[in-house]
Amino acid sequence: MGHLRSHRNKLFFLMFGGAIGIILLVVGGYQLVEFSDSVGFCGRLCHTVMYPEYTTYQASPHSRVKCAECHVGSGADYLVRSKVSGVPLIFSTIFNSYHRPIPTPVENLRPAPETCEQCHRPEKFSGDLVRVHISYQQDENNTRKVDTRVLPVGGGGLDAAQGIHWHIAARVWYLALDEQLQDIAWVGVEEQGGELTEYLDPKKAAEVTPERLKNEKRLMDCIDCHNRATHIFRSPNDLIDAALSQGMIDSSLPFIKREGLKALDPPNSSLAEAVAKIEAIKDFYRTSYPQVSKEKKAAIDRAVEQLKEVARLTTFPEMKVTWKSYLSNAGHQESPGCLRCHGKLTATSGPQKGTPVGINCESCHYFELRIPK
Ligand code: HEC
Ligand code: HEC
Ligand code: HEC
Ligand code: HEC
Ligand code: HEC
Repeated sequence: MGHLRSHRNKLFFLMFGGAIGIILLVVGGYQLVEFSDSVGFCGRLCHTVMYPEYTTYQASPHSRVKCAECHVGSGADYLVRSKVSGVPLIFSTIFNSYHRPIPTPVENLRPAPETCEQCHRPEKFSGDLVRVHISYQQDENNTRKVDTRVLPVGGGGLDAAQGIHWHIAARVWYLALDEQLQDIAWVGVEEQGGELTEYLDPKKAAEVTPERLKNEKRLMDCIDCHNRATHIFRSPNDLIDAALSQGMIDSSLPFIKREGLKALDPPNSSLAEAVAKIEAIKDFYRTSYPQVSKEKKAAIDRAVEQLKEVARLTTFPEMKVTWKSYLSNAGHQESPGCLRCHGKLTATSGPQKGTPVGINCESCHYFELRIPK
């Protein structure tokens, strides 16, 4: 099953090549090869299958990075291989035999040094990063709440590495017991002298066999945390908060947060259904707030248009994808994320022996700033 799945995944992710790619290769025109690697090919030609990924990608920090730069990387052998292995995919697309949603983790993403690290330099020290979360309550005033965290991203070369990006300066191996890589039972950190400091989940000790360690352990890289680097499936709650804080939705409209959320969460069975519910917000103002409905007509119309954009970014019934389908590992609120190891594993060797991997909140996000109104 695991093998089968990984095989099928391979077909998906090298898809921008596909059967057409091989024809193009035979034709041999360089420009045509470029085309088959292009974002348009990937996102639009495989419209239904990758529609959710394409849509969220367009709204992500990587919207100008081509699909192939993360999914294929550069280099002739990968290019040729990807186009060849993409062939059977066309058939599975035609016969609708692919999975919904597409399963992750993607097994054949090129190693991060050949993709992410072409642009990002892990040895560069990033220092501390301030993250300001602005959220709105569902009351009449859409009461605003500001919550600020400072994340010591750190980084730097191995000798000096510290903070959150220490994991990639160091060589951190791990063993997960499940395909989703959520149930991490063992970690081994290569020290500079070459010896391994090991950490173990005491409850899972019996399942961590030397055999499994030898065959299944993985070296931690960017994607183990940033699995949602670019296909960020944000919830309606998050997206409405963002639109309110950016002034795209007027926060003086009574109950706009509540009404917007009501239209979009739980997920609708089609985009048309979502749009109809959003349009009905105009009626809500006409009946419940006639004065506002007249005086702030332009603001209401604009809010309705913005909410339709939120609907577009959250409604993917064809692929059975919602904002809960793919959870980010770069935190611990929605999925275990950092807590797959922190607070769960205990050192079984080295100077730390007997102590758990740190769970001290302050070591990962250390204080709350006061933001002036
Ligand atoms: C910045 C790098 C990057 C770019 C650019 C990128 N992807 Fe991805 N993609 C990823 C990562 C990372 C994953 C998740 C891997 C995992 O969880 O195993 C992923 C996963 C996917 C998945 C699997 C389903 C999912 O949501 O995890 C699909 C389908 C996909 N990408 C298609 C595309 C398409 C189509 C494009 C271009 C429109 C694209 N990708 C551009 C990095 C990228
Ligand atoms: C072709 C260049 C390129 C590649 C490849 C690339 N990135 Fe990026 N990445 C960028 C750029 C440019 C930005 C900044 C976008 C901005 O701020 O407008 C960025 C931003 C980010 C951010 C910060 C996002 C935020 O919310 O501020 C993260 C995290 C990130 N990239 C991770 C990754 C990971 C993980 C991969 C590999 C799967 C990857 N990147 C591959 C160019 C790239
Ligand atoms: C242990 C988990 C982890 C690993 C591994 C990891 N990161 Fe991060 N990274 C984070 C967290 C957490 C942040 C804080 C911001 C956030 O939540 O996105 C961050 C922030 C970033 C940022 C934004 C920094 C800034 O100053 O704006 C970039 C870019 C980034 N990471 C790229 C990478 C790349 C490239 C790799 C692989 C070489 C990588 N990260 C590996 C957890 C990780
Ligand atoms: C695969 C297991 C694993 C995962 C997942 C993981 N860590 Fe770690 N982390 C470790 C280990 C092991 C250490 C070293 C032992 C210690 O510091 O307790 C460590 C150390 C750290 C440190 C201290 C580094 C230093 O020395 O300055 C920070 C900060 C940290 N992790 C943050 C995070 C964050 C944030 C995430 C999630 C985005 C995360 N970790 C996910 C295993 C993990
Ligand atoms: C191993 C590192 C780590 C530890 C330990 C940790 N956190 Fe976090 N936490 C994170 C990261 C990374 C995020 C994502 C932050 C972001 O992207 O803004 C996060 C996010 C959060 C958020 C959500 C922020 C938001 O508004 O979305 C809360 C609340 C939180 N942490 C509370 C705690 C508390 C309380 C503790 C101590 C019991 C704790 N955390 C321990 C790494 C850690």
